[in-house]
Amino acid sequence: MTITPERPLLPVVTLRTEGGAGTCPPEAPCASGRAALTCRYRCGDACAHDAPNTSDNETFADVMARAASRRGVLRAGAVIGAATAATVAFSGPVAAAPVSAPTGKGGPTKPPKPGRGPHGLRFEPVAPNTADAVTVPPGYRQDVVIRWGDPLFKDSPRWSVDRQSAAAQRRQFGFNNDFLALLPLSRGTQLLVANHEYTSEELMYPGYDPANPTREQVETSWAAHGLSVVAVRETRSGSLEPIVGHQLNRRFHTQTEFRLTGPVAGHPLVRTKADPRGRTVLGTLNNCAGGTTPWGTWLTAEENFNQYFANAATVTDPTTAARLARYGVAGTASERQWEKFDDRFDLAKEPNEVNRFGWIVEVDPYDPRAVPRKRTALGRFKHEAAQPRINKDGRVAVYMGDDERFDYLYKFVSRDRMKKGRSASAKRHNDTLLDHGTLYVAKLTGDSPTSQIDGTGTLPKDGEFDGSGTWIPLVSGTKSFVKGFTAEEVLLFTRQAADVAGATKMDRPEDVEPSPVSGKVYVALTNNSNRGAAGKAGADEANPRNANKNGHVLELTEHRNDSGATRFAWSLLLVCGDPNDPATYFGGYDKSQVSPISCPDNVTFDRHGNLWVSTDGNALGSNDGLFGVAVEGRDRGLTRQFLTVPLGAETCGPVVQRHRVLVCVQHPGEKDGASADAPASHWPDGGSSVPRPSVAVVWRKDGREIGV
Ligand code: FEO
Ligand code: CA
Ligand code: CA
Repeated sequence: MTITPERPLLPVVTLRTEGGAGTCPPEAPCASGRAALTCRYRCGDACAHDAPNTSDNETFADVMARAASRRGVLRAGAVIGAATAATVAFSGPVAAAPVSAPTGKGGPTKPPKPGRGPHGLRFEPVAPNTADAVTVPPGYRQDVVIRWGDPLFKDSPRWSVDRQSAAAQRRQFGFNNDFLALLPLSRGTQLLVANHEYTSEELMYPGYDPANPTREQVETSWAAHGLSVVAVRETRSGSLEPIVGHQLNRRFHTQTEFRLTGPVAGHPLVRTKADPRGRTVLGTLNNCAGGTTPWGTWLTAEENFNQYFANAATVTDPTTAARLARYGVAGTASERQWEKFDDRFDLAKEPNEVNRFGWIVEVDPYDPRAVPRKRTALGRFKHEAAQPRINKDGRVAVYMGDDERFDYLYKFVSRDRMKKGRSASAKRHNDTLLDHGTLYVAKLTGDSPTSQIDGTGTLPKDGEFDGSGTWIPLVSGTKSFVKGFTAEEVLLFTRQAADVAGATKMDRPEDVEPSPVSGKVYVALTNNSNRGAAGKAGADEANPRNANKNGHVLELTEHRNDSGATRFAWSLLLVCGDPNDPATYFGGYDKSQVSPISCPDNVTFDRHGNLWVSTDGNALGSNDGLFGVAVEGRDRGLTRQFLTVPLGAETCGPVVQRHRVLVCVQHPGEKDGASADAPASHWPDGGSSVPRPSVAVVWRKDGREIGV
């Protein structure tokens, strides 16, 4: 059901700046408003553990900056406290609600002027809310395209929460869709590709006992992970619907064959008992976001793979133990206990299987027989996403983030040039592009005195968080640039190599995407509550807030707009949060006219060049959402919320087409205490149903272009 602005959602919605009840457990210094259930299943309680980056790769300037920032925090404590106290409830109908919450001091802010602003962003912003619904602007409609359990094939069993099986799930749309792309097919049809990042067993299986999962439940979860390819067609109403049984429909899951390619393929550290040649892996795990290539393939990123592997605690070799620890592979039993059902998930029995995950995977969705490739030349870390840009000289640059507190921003530049066209020889050539090239990691330097970066988010005197940076080469083909590492070791243990190289510790780099309009690269930095904590790196100009709960968005401009460059300039486009909080920045735009935004995660662009940002873990108390952001000219920084997703859900995989916006609604109803027996959300099926992760589509009632 579309919630229209004529219908008040809730009489009062309280915005907060701290994760409150129902968020991460107290011992978990998680910055966002995520439920503990989400932390457990999505990232293996990453925030409850110490950040795996314990390297000391700071420069003297960094150390000075940290000392300054601590002094600044003491000075600014009262300011932050005041801002928190001033963040109050707003009331009244959604349509009449101001975009940002009114402060106690300044009174209600001016209402938005949706007719103004650049093309693409002319819609009435959706107000923050906690509805169990997808909420869209007035004049727009929405629908569900496909949901967990929906059939992909003619023989797919009909889904029912009480009749799940591994065999059925292998023929159905998987769980917790994250990345989403729509690729061209024939007129009126498109190919939808989606990642299924992780499973939340307590929300999937009635009567689930976490201490004793059954084989059927485990194998169903294996099948619910992975990837889906499904053709969709336009409906008369303006929505999209799956074409069940289309010849390109496919499911990839934890038992599907994947091929390792590039420098690490066949290396002793990726050989296992089941695969002594070290070239064929079963499955892909925790595929978060991704990208699409100009040569017609799909890139998907293996993220929190560490959580699936048990018994790291039994490893005694110090080198191996350090490698595991740097990736957060730790402890004894795993959360889902897959090791009880397949030895490859038990490090004590199969030490190398873990090295076969954490890669960028390339899939050809147009060839139903194609075996997906794990591209080892792009390094191994907790890959959030990968988005290519073709350089002026025809080489391919792929931008990537490693989503962990204090981890890094990367770029791969291919050795060879892309061949245009879809001929067989072009296809063969482009299939090797991501196997040969140079992997870089980013080092960012601020241009303001470190004494002006005090950790509060207060702008330095030059009015911007900005500076310059370098791409530090780590490895190129068989040549390592990192002392003490072979080329293969740089790729297998990229985090440790980047530590040695002196990369800049960032606040959880998520999606990193170049604008197809300007070439500028945008980096979503979700949050980092540990920034500035005792023993941790303090604020720097690129990560300017200590205890960063709301995240920021960085804009990177390659030298001469050349994706192969090793120098760049950068500035922060957004320092997110409640715009009434002085520790926020919206590209210099009037903050009374913008929507509150928290925890940026995935990004994309509309055809006008506006940036669209989806959020994960809103720390302001509202449901997550999708926002359009102007990046150029006098509107730079104008931020408008386009939709919110249902209770407990995360907004993922935004796709902004001329006449449609699509998002993945991931983990609806993932609230603490919720289960398949006691759901916290009933979206999208309503009644007393369990929530089902789904792809949602939004379009205009009048059929016109989005946001004009
Ligand atoms: Fe799966 Fe970094 O989010
Ligand atoms: Ca500056
Ligand atoms: Ca993400």
